[in-house]
This record gives sequence, C-alpha cells and structure tokens, in this order.
Amino acid sequence: MVEGRPRIVFVPYPAQGHITPMFHLAHAMHHQHGFQSILVNPNFIHNRLIASSSGATNDPDNHGVIYANIPDGLHDGESIDFFAISHAMENHMPCHLECLLKSFETVGGVSCVVVDLLASWAVGVAERCRIPVAGFWPAMLGTYRLISGVPDMICRGLIDKNGTPIQEGATSFIKGQPKLNPEELPWLIGSPSSRRSRFAFWLRTIDRCKSLGWLILNSFHGEEINTENLLSSPRIFRIGPLPTHSPTPTLWCEDGICIEWLDKQSPSSVVYVSFGSWVDPIGDDKVAELALGLEASEKPFLWVLSTAWRSGLPEGYLDRVKGRGMLVSWAPQREVLEHGAVGCYLMHCGWNSTIEAVERGKRLLCYPVAGDQFVNCTYIVDVWKVGVRLGKLERGEVEEGVKRLMDGCCGGEMMRRVLALKELMMGRHGRLGADAELNAFVDALANWTLD
Ligand code: UDX
Repeated sequence: MVEGRPRIVFVPYPAQGHITPMFHLAHAMHHQHGFQSILVNPNFIHNRLIASSSGATNDPDNHGVIYANIPDGLHDGESIDFFAISHAMENHMPCHLECLLKSFETVGGVSCVVVDLLASWAVGVAERCRIPVAGFWPAMLGTYRLISGVPDMICRGLIDKNGTPIQEGATSFIKGQPKLNPEELPWLIGSPSSRRSRFAFWLRTIDRCKSLGWLILNSFHGEEINTENLLSSPRIFRIGPLPTHSPTPTLWCEDGICIEWLDKQSPSSVVYVSFGSWVDPIGDDKVAELALGLEASEKPFLWVLSTAWRSGLPEGYLDRVKGRGMLVSWAPQREVLEHGAVGCYLMHCGWNSTIEAVERGKRLLCYPVAGDQFVNCTYIVDVWKVGVRLGKLERGEVEEGVKRLMDGCCGGEMMRRVLALKELMMGRHGRLGADAELNAFVDALANWTLD
C-alpha cells in the first residue's frame, strides 16, 4: 500500500452497474486528486472479479485502485439474488467493514467513506468510526429526486405505504420530471409478493441517508433543464458522466471474438443488443419475439444473451441467422460501442450503458425493464430524442424500430441529436463541469477534515 496519501474508501452495491461507476470515481480520486483509493467488495464479488480478470485486479500500478474484500456470509453454490445480498449487507458485512476501517487507524486513518446509496448499511458504520461519509448515486439525478421524494409522496397520498400509486400522475409534483406511467415507478420491481420487502429496502435507504451531508451523482448538468432547489441538504456534486475509458473490472469474462466479427462488418450496419447485467428475465416469449424481429430486419446483429435466456430462441434460429447474427454471453461493451460497424443499440436503458452509448454517438432502441430504466428511457426518447421506445418488444415493432433508426431519415436526425448530446456531455456542462464538481467535493472534504 502507498503510505502518506490521504485514504478514501468506496463501498459499492455488489452488482456490475454499481461497481463500474464507483470504480471510475475511485480511479479519478486516485489519478486526479492523489488519494489512495480502496474499493471494498464482499467476498463473492471479489472472487468473481479476480476470476474474470486473470488476477490482475489487485495490482495498484495497474488501475491505481486497491481492492479490499470482506466476508459476506454467503455460501458457495447459494443463489445470490437481491434478498441474499440484502441479508449479507445487513447481517454480515457491517462488522467486517468496521474492522477494516479501524485497521487503518495506525497508518493515517481514512479521510472519507463513499457509500453507494443502495449500500446504505455502510453509512452508520462510517459514522460510528467518526469518518466523514459521502453518498453516491450511480444513476441520474431524476431518479434520485423521485426516490428521495417517496416520503413526501406517501404524505400527499399519491402512493400508499407499499409504494403502489394511488393517483394518476403520482410523480408529476416533482418539477422537471418527465411523466411516467404508474407501473414505471423505480421501486416497483419484482413480483407483487416481493414488492413489499423491496419497498421496505428503499424506505430504510431513505431514512439512513437523511444524515448525509454530501451526495455525489454520476449525473451531468445537461441531463435536465430544471435544477432548482438542488443545493439544499445534502450538498450535491454532479460529477458525471464519469470517464468510461479506463479499464473496468467486470464480473464475467469478456468474449473478445465479437470484435473480430465486427471488424468484418460494414460501417454502421450492426444492431448491438444487450440488457446489461442485472435485469429480471424478460421471458422466453419476449426473447423469441426479439429474435424474430432481428431476423426480419435483415441487419447483422451482435446480441449479448446469457445461456439462461437462450431457451427462448425459436427452433432452428441459430442455423438460420448463422453468419449474420452473433451471440455472446458477455461482451467488451465499451469497445463494441466504440466500433464503427455498430449502427444502433437495442438496450434496457441502464444508466451506465446509456452514458457509454451516447458518449460513442450511438442511437438507441429502448426496452426498459425495471428500476431506474423507465426514467432513463423517458429522457432518451422524450427529452433528448436520441432513441425510439419499443412498447411490447413484438417482432414487427423490433423490425420497424431497427429500420427506422438505421435506414429512415429519422435515423439521420437522431444521429445529429446524439452527437449534440455527446458534445454536451463532454463539454462545459458535462465532463469539464464534472471535474470542477469533483474539485469542489475534494475542497469540501479538506474543510471538513480541518474542522
Ligand atoms: C443497473 C441499472 O439498470 C442501472 O440503470 C443503474 O444505474 C445500475 O444498476 P445494469 O442493469 O447492470 O445496472 O445496467 P447498466 O447501468 O447499463 O450497467 C451495465 C454495465 O455492464 C455497463 O457498464 C456495460 O458496459 C457493462 N456490460 C454489459 C459489459 O461490459 N458487457 C456486456 O456484455 C453487458
């Protein structure tokens, strides 16, 4: 370990879409601000990161981020879902994080703990250790505002105490928020029977985060027009979009063969399809419709489809699309999106994937599935107008959507808009503004330490 540098500890929620932006933040705090950045993961994640990266993750000279792991109480072979993770976070990880933080006391201590809001269990641990703590929201400001508005929505009778909307337009009291359908609220995830405990998770998160003085968001200034009341408590630092070009740890082995396949395709001809890393299964019937729509579009396609979802493919499908369609279980996504052969991206509207695609000037076909993806979709389709929404994912709709984006004149307009949005993301309101916000966070931290 590097002695003498201020030390900052990062606690992501244990899922790819959370580890990725937290890693980029840890990377920036190390390389731009000279911190010793330590990323803490539960054992089950740490083991997967090591397995998928040939053991290179722990080399501080490699990415500048040091990995630490703590016991999670999970057993080999156990199915690790939202509930198993919640149990590990509430019952096993807090005491181990506390020991880890205390172990640094003899070597200069820790200047700050940055906690993903979905890992809010760690806020109390940092507070007990009397270490400054900052919240981290890996997604867009719009979703944070919706979720932090939940207690208010319950008080106003817009949603009930289980999060179910009571009135039409439950979210419209939040200024600047594009309209969502009632079933698209970010906390309405999973089967009705599991919703109650998932919503309890959100209420616990909101309650624990009330004490936070600082909140860092992977969100950028241009993402919405309305910014009033943002500088109230907690103080908000919009440090997005975080750079996505540094190497990123992944939980699965990347199948690089798809880049060789892309090299053989014509410019802007390929449809890239991926639903990210943590999505409720869309079901065999939807997989079949999507498969048939891609086939009917007559475009080449690269589809990230896990083996668990392949049971939905129609019989004989792989033979029929041989040469034109490529299926992989996990792709080097940022390299794929960078590739000139990719013409559009059919996606679930995960926030990291959205940023990665816009940053690489790709137009989007949207099929949001859960969580914040519906909010992200409203921005992509209705506010920025850089994508088309697929309502039911039926084959005709997929075929038409692909052709509209890749052949029609609407595709050209969208391309111009996505390039303009890219400029915004990278310019004064985006990446450059983000650097200034990160500087402001480091200043706030220095002032806290002096108190
Ligand atoms: C989820 C939510 O969807 C997202 O909005 C929230 O901000 C974090 O939790 P996830 O479903 O994993 O995340 O989607 P996304 O945010 O898009 O992140 C997926 C990440 O995995 C991206 O960085 C993407 O590049 C990467 N990925 C995905 C790969 O590297 N290869 C793949 O084949 C698929």
